[in-house]
Amino acid sequence: MSPVHVVYAHPDPASFTREVLDAFVGGLSSYTVSDLYGSGFQPVLSAAEYARPASDPVPSDVAAEQESLDAAEVWAFVYPVWWADCPAMLKGWFDRVWTVGWAYKPGWGRVARRAVVLCTAGYTVAELEKSGVHQAMRTAMLTDRIGARASSSDFVVLGGSVLAGSDPAGWASLKADHLAHAAALARSL
Ligand SMILES: Cc1cc2nc3c(=O)[nH]c(=O)nc-3n(C[C@H](O)[C@H](O)[C@H](O)COP(=O)(O)O)c2cc1C
Repeated sequence: MSPVHVVYAHPDPASFTREVLDAFVGGLSSYTVSDLYGSGFQPVLSAAEYARPASDPVPSDVAAEQESLDAAEVWAFVYPVWWADCPAMLKGWFDRVWTVGWAYKPGWGRVARRAVVLCTAGYTVAELEKSGVHQAMRTAMLTDRIGARASSSDFVVLGGSVLAGSDPAGWASLKADHLAHAAALARSL
């Protein structure tokens, strides 16, 4: 089993997204987790970081995130879709952790074996595909943010949580399928 590093962004430990995280790591034997809300990660790129010369060291919290990624063969991202993208907490994590010299030239060279993106959504996948949001989210995460930094990548949307209000039984069944999918994906890594 490959070591997997999971980057998780949801503020509520009772959320569906947290259930997805639990199902996913339940299928892994060797993993670490960056719980961005739980750890109080500071997601705003400061003026000093923006101006940092590439040869200067990165802040210690950024270095810790990069070390966790460097130690893993597989990277996983678990988060809810908020306004057709990841939460600002995770977007800010990319702003700060994907630094020059680590995530792009000069000097970057670390390539993960695989990156897996698991996101929950209120809309169903069919609805997100019809609006074009699914394709846009996939492009932003896999083509841009992951890009050549992983040899292969997966983008999985576990959608339809809006059904919880209108069709509780339908949502319970769909949710069970989603959690089984997350666990099966983990076991395949
Ligand atoms: C601020 C906010 C924005 C959201 N934007 C979207 C969206 O653009 N598309 C969508 O399908 N669901 C959207 N949702 C619904 C969440 O994706 C959904 O509640 C979540 O994935 C599953 O529930 P959880 O919060 O219990 O994990 C949004 C929810 C919040 C709180």
